[in-house]
Amino acid sequence: MYFFEKVNENIIRLGVNDRRLARFENMYPIPNGISYNSYLVVGDKTVLMDTVDHAYMNQFFENLESALDGRDLDYLVVSHMEPDHSAAIAMVLKAYPNCKLVGNQKSFQFLEQFFHYDFKDRYLIVKDGDTLDIGGRVLKFVFAPMVHWPEVMFTLTDKGELFSSDAFGTFGAIEGHIYSDDIEMDELFLSEAARYYFNVVGKFGRNVISVLKKLDLEAINMILPLHGPIHRTKEKINAFVDKYMTWAAFEPEKQGVVIVFASMYGNTELVADTIAYFLSMEGVKNIKIYDVSETHASYIISEAHRHSNLIFTPINYNTELYPEMDALLRELVGTGYQSRKYSVITNGSWGGRSEKIAEEIIAKSKLEKIGETVAITSSATKEDEEKLKALAKQIADSLK
Ligand code: FEO
Repeated sequence: MYFFEKVNENIIRLGVNDRRLARFENMYPIPNGISYNSYLVVGDKTVLMDTVDHAYMNQFFENLESALDGRDLDYLVVSHMEPDHSAAIAMVLKAYPNCKLVGNQKSFQFLEQFFHYDFKDRYLIVKDGDTLDIGGRVLKFVFAPMVHWPEVMFTLTDKGELFSSDAFGTFGAIEGHIYSDDIEMDELFLSEAARYYFNVVGKFGRNVISVLKKLDLEAINMILPLHGPIHRTKEKINAFVDKYMTWAAFEPEKQGVVIVFASMYGNTELVADTIAYFLSMEGVKNIKIYDVSETHASYIISEAHRHSNLIFTPINYNTELYPEMDALLRELVGTGYQSRKYSVITNGSWGGRSEKIAEEIIAKSKLEKIGETVAITSSATKEDEEKLKALAKQIADSLK
């Protein structure tokens, strides 16, 4: 059974949903699945914009054949060589022997590295800013290096349709509606879009900004990403571009505090709850608490980027830093985390160097420390409670 949706007279969406994959890139949980989008642009010539993951090649191919409705395929544009979009390239080229493969030098280098294909005689190598007139649409290729791989390129049509590769995508399968204006871009949508952005693309925020600056954003009236819904109204486009500008500039989206704790017997968890309570009493509105052993790092990393302040508890384990906290902090730094404020609460019973290790890890992020470390020994005392209260006030003051 084929399934495709007409976006307008010249564009057809051929995407598929994947709800069977447990983790995107074998790292990030996707409880609501993910979509792999692909599009057919139909003019005098036919152009396929990317393919899909290998697990869905058969369904995708049926969609493509049906959408072509007996026409030949003239071009396949490769905007990104990560295999969730490139796996079906050979299948398409073999089925459509007249089809040219449009990409840049790097895309073809990666194609050969990944799949060892020999399609050199089918390559149409483009440079940044090159155009391709397909009769009915002129496609302009805009290089977007490191958003989030080096070969990535966007395609902008003369009608203002932007095929944005992984940018402006989100986790989550399509649930019937393919347009963002038909669904609620609520906190759940935004938190999944943010989790996708900060974990997959976020480190390269400066590259995101430079490519957005290269584009005439006013002239864009549709954004067609490789994951998630299409944005076709100015309201949704502007809202998402604004979010991207904030996220990519490493600016906090919310004044608030993310507290991430590690706790073996509940004593440090109680400390996390206690300082959260004191923060609330100080008028802090946005507070989130995560158990580093319980919540996948991708959720914590995303929320840490979205908020202005972070509190973490680098407790000891085997005299070193608690392994899950160690991993989280390294991963957080690896996503380009910066321009934030942090505070530390330690808990140790008989020694260890966990705080020193944690401070060394996050030193790379160049953060501003708020308050002195509050050091608990085994479980908090009344005196510690006063220190937590004082720290909560300093943190609240830092938000103003
Ligand atoms: Fe959706 Fe970077 O692949």
